[in-house]
Amino acid sequence: MGKQRILSGVQPTGNLHLGNYLGAIRNWVQGQSQYDNYFCVVDLHAITVPHNPATLASDTYNVAALYLACGIDLKYSTIFVQSHIPAHAELTWLLNCITPINWLQDMIQFKEKAVKQGENVATGLLDYPVLMAADILLYEPDKVPVGEDQKQHIELTRDIVNRFNHLFGQGKQILKQPEPLINKEGARVMSLTDGTRKMSKSDPSDLSRINLLDSPDEIAKKIKRCKTDSVRGLVFDDPARPECNNLLTIYMLLSGKTKEEVAAECQDMGWGQFKPLLTEIIIAALKPIQEKYKEVMADKGYLESVLREGRQKAEAVASQTLRKAKIAMGYSMPL
Ligand code: AMP
Ligand code: TRP
Repeated sequence: MGKQRILSGVQPTGNLHLGNYLGAIRNWVQGQSQYDNYFCVVDLHAITVPHNPATLASDTYNVAALYLACGIDLKYSTIFVQSHIPAHAELTWLLNCITPINWLQDMIQFKEKAVKQGENVATGLLDYPVLMAADILLYEPDKVPVGEDQKQHIELTRDIVNRFNHLFGQGKQILKQPEPLINKEGARVMSLTDGTRKMSKSDPSDLSRINLLDSPDEIAKKIKRCKTDSVRGLVFDDPARPECNNLLTIYMLLSGKTKEEVAAECQDMGWGQFKPLLTEIIIAALKPIQEKYKEVMADKGYLESVLREGRQKAEAVASQTLRKAKIAMGYSMPL
């Protein structure tokens, strides 16, 4: 039997941070040899909120370079850019026409983002999950590794598959049902300035997140200033201490220690003792990523060749699925 397939993506908006790494990219890297992997940079999603045309292309390249820097290996994985494959936009349109609008209005992320946009909410922001469904379904993945915040979008994708197959499948599964793959630990890394909100690219305060490309000084400053509490002894899973749980979890994941080991190590510590340890672990974990990133960015020709090859491989898979979907819907095929 062949390997199961994985598909996932990150938007090229703002700086990639520890939440993106621990919730998504690190899991892609750790599992990649078991699977046949497709990782895209979802630049069509990046324009669902106002964007800067002057930096869209370079932001897209930077994310692709970060995939490589984090350890995505081309032996197992294909890296490509969403907008390079027209099938994503085309399947989105087909799926739009069978997706009830109230399914989209109910999405938590839409509601949260729409509030921030005030009166100027683009149709694309509402339609964002349908584009994500198209991203996924074109590659017929078995699993979609993401952070907790994307679970609802994958459930919507599954609802769209059921509806499509019911309407057009004549008893057959034309589109394939994907499963979410969400690791329990790291699925929701929280803000450094408020342990009840997730770490996010769009938080106006840079102090709220550790970016993957932050310098050691910036990391030290952010950890020094991050929100804590006045309780002595550090513990996991105390609902009254969300910051404490978050910082211990980051420490656990980046140190490679088990939860029990970290709990034992930190139970009698104060923040003054813990913060320097955490700072050191974060700096050490990001150092190899930052070095590899510099190397990749120094050779633009190489990165372009990775994306060109990725496009060819992705296109071959996507065009087949799109064709199947169009035939099922009754389209005539160009001769
Ligand atoms: P985005 O930054 O929205 O493009 O998200 C890219 C990937 O990172 C998705 O799989 C998200 O679920 C994941 N992600 C984003 N923020 C966090 C966070 N704070 N904690 C864990 N995963 C996250
Ligand atoms: N919506 C996802 C996010 O913001 C990014 C994304 C777009 C994605 N298309 C995808 C993730 C397909 C997984 C699969 O995190």
